[in-house]
Amino acid sequence: MPNTSAGEPSSGRRTSQGRTAPGRQARVVLTLSFAAIAGIAVWGGLGPSRTGPVASIRGVYLIGRDRPFPPSGRYPSDPYVGPLACAECHPGEYALYTQSGHARTLSSPRHRLIASQLDGQSIEDPDQPEVRWTYHCRDDELFIRRSERDKIEECVAEYAFGSGHHGTTFVSVVDPTAPAILEHRISYYTGANALGLTAGQNERPRPPGLGPLGRVMPPDAALKCFGCHSTHLSARDDRPIDEETMIPNVSCERCHGPGRAHVEAARRAPDAEMNLPFGTDRFTTESLILLCGTCHRHPSKARPEEIRPDDPHLVRFQPVGLLQSRCYRESQGAFSCLSCHDPHARASADLASYRAVCISCHGTPAEKPTRRGAICPVEPRGDCIACHMPRVDAGQHILFTDHWIRVRHEGEPMLPLNGPTPNLKSLNAPSP
Ligand code: HEC
Ligand code: HEC
Ligand code: HEC
Ligand code: HEC
Ligand code: HEC
Ligand code: HEC
Ligand code: HEC
Repeated sequence: MPNTSAGEPSSGRRTSQGRTAPGRQARVVLTLSFAAIAGIAVWGGLGPSRTGPVASIRGVYLIGRDRPFPPSGRYPSDPYVGPLACAECHPGEYALYTQSGHARTLSSPRHRLIASQLDGQSIEDPDQPEVRWTYHCRDDELFIRRSERDKIEECVAEYAFGSGHHGTTFVSVVDPTAPAILEHRISYYTGANALGLTAGQNERPRPPGLGPLGRVMPPDAALKCFGCHSTHLSARDDRPIDEETMIPNVSCERCHGPGRAHVEAARRAPDAEMNLPFGTDRFTTESLILLCGTCHRHPSKARPEEIRPDDPHLVRFQPVGLLQSRCYRESQGAFSCLSCHDPHARASADLASYRAVCISCHGTPAEKPTRRGAICPVEPRGDCIACHMPRVDAGQHILFTDHWIRVRHEGEPMLPLNGPTPNLKSLNAPSP
């Protein structure tokens, strides 16, 4: 399909689910107000100039969990097969995976419980009492409305980022050709069952692109945002993000590489050359942490002076912390993310399982450690995680586990967070 420019009207198109979707360019931010001019000014910097009501794009019909791939591939010579195809021969990994955050980190809100939970909710903006946010589902879509006196703007939430284990942020595409996106101002925080300012939008200095509806992100930032939350963004040369060929979520082939050749080999003969780009014997400790670090962040991407134990922002970046730990540095490659996490599963909530890992190096002789490390002089039988890997608030209503394993002393000074912790507005309905 040719790439039409933003703002150009287009007739409906067939999606492979057989549903006719209205033209991508046709609509979505409907400005219901008398202040459309102000709205256009806000969006004025984006792409070709627009006339009429502020317009955005709709489209994400194809992106659901476990979208089946046609058996013939999505196009001739497609190297990807999608996670469902792996389930046939690896049901264990697949079953764990479907419960993990990786499997649900980019979806259409229409497939999510959160849409029905937000339906009908109306809250005051956490920082601007004159602004209200109202959520409603209509025609199987989630609409977000911002009202400020007689000015009303409405927008379809096209993508939901985050599995909901910690939080969910909505994104709408404001220019598909660039692509430029709107990261909505208000996010849902699961732990508090509340809505609040999206993490990062309250930071100092102010991030660029902030407007009344949220933060508009130019193509490079938009692609990074989608890139860390998906397996493959597009199989088309002319479109960096393409819903029809996108493989959402951090699925099997994001870590193991495209799987078609592997599947075909397994079908041909069980002892054939399995050909998986990243199979088990092709991970070293370093390459594995680099892989996890492409999204969870790797210290090689930071300036050394930025890595300091008293900076609470770092707790979001587990590989950065872990690689500073003496446990990692003095274990000659025996310690990695896989020591404590199954890459296919949700992080275990069983603290005893983590303690067993610590004990494997720091156990008393009676506990038969496999390697020798010092024994805790304080609580050799206590909950190691509580004292040496505590949960820390990075100022975003989400607690992260500090992976910089070390000795901490009570009242240790911490750098101030660069911005206030956003206020929250509780929902008047039970959490989903
Ligand atoms: C393509 C980007 C990407 C890669 C590569 C990646 N992750 Fe993640 N990971 C994410 C995102 C995004 C989330 C947040 C999921 C959510 O929305 O809850 C996440 C969540 C997690 C969680 C929390 C999951 C939960 O549900 O409790 C763990 C643990 C984790 N990742 C470990 C790893 C490990 C270990 C590796 C390397 C083997 C890895 N990740 C590689 C992007 C990635
Ligand atoms: C460099 C890779 C990267 C980029 C870019 C990125 N994310 Fe994430 N995102 C992650 C990882 C990794 C996690 C898991 C964080 C964790 O639980 O430790 C995550 C988690 C989330 C979550 C779940 C809440 C949480 O903090 O666990 C939301 C919501 C989210 N991201 C939204 C976005 C949006 C929206 C953008 C773009 C505007 C974006 N992310 C850009 C890697 C990225
Ligand atoms: C976040 C990255 C990541 C994702 C996503 C992922 N894997 Fe893995 N997988 C790994 C790593 C790393 C290993 C190596 C584990 C080890 O050596 O202990 C592995 C190992 C395996 C193994 C070998 C297990 C064994 O014990 O020999 C199989 C089979 C496998 N994965 C299948 C899958 C399937 C199927 C999916 C999707 C449902 C998937 N993986 C998703 C990272 C991932
Ligand atoms: C038709 C059956 C079949 C399908 C489908 C299949 N595999 Fe495999 N896979 C195998 C067999 C057989 C082995 C080798 C025996 C073993 O190690 O368990 C294997 C081994 C693996 C291994 C470990 C071997 C290695 O390369 O280190 C990984 C990882 C893996 N598969 C991932 C995947 C992923 C990801 C998918 C989906 C893209 C997939 N498999 C689809 C049959 C299959
Ligand atoms: C020594 C054990 C250990 C190692 C090694 C480890 N983790 Fe964790 N990780 C934990 C614990 C404990 C939690 C908290 C689990 C819970 O209670 O939800 C956690 C939680 C997480 C989470 C969820 C968000 C958070 O911060 O709470 C992510 C993402 C994660 N780990 C990624 C990684 C990555 C990537 C690596 C490798 C660089 C890694 N972890 C290595 C113990 C470990
Ligand atoms: C693969 C082995 C290994 C594992 C697993 C391991 N450590 Fe370590 N750790 C070490 C080594 C080696 C050192 C260096 C000092 C020593 O020999 O004890 C160390 C040092 C430490 C220190 C002292 C840090 C400092 O800055 O002086 C603490 C505290 C610690 N580990 C706690 C833990 C906890 C808690 C766990 C589990 C979450 C854990 N370790 C898991 C190997 C390990
Ligand atoms: C109540 C909090 C607490 C608990 C629980 C705890 N520790 Fe510690 N640990 C400390 C403190 C405080 C120190 C520093 C002691 C000092 O320097 O005098 C320490 C020191 C250590 C050291 C460094 C010892 C050295 O000689 O360098 C290691 C290793 C360690 N702990 C491992 C563990 C492990 C493994 C567990 C779980 C079995 C654990 N700790 C449980 C508070 C705790």
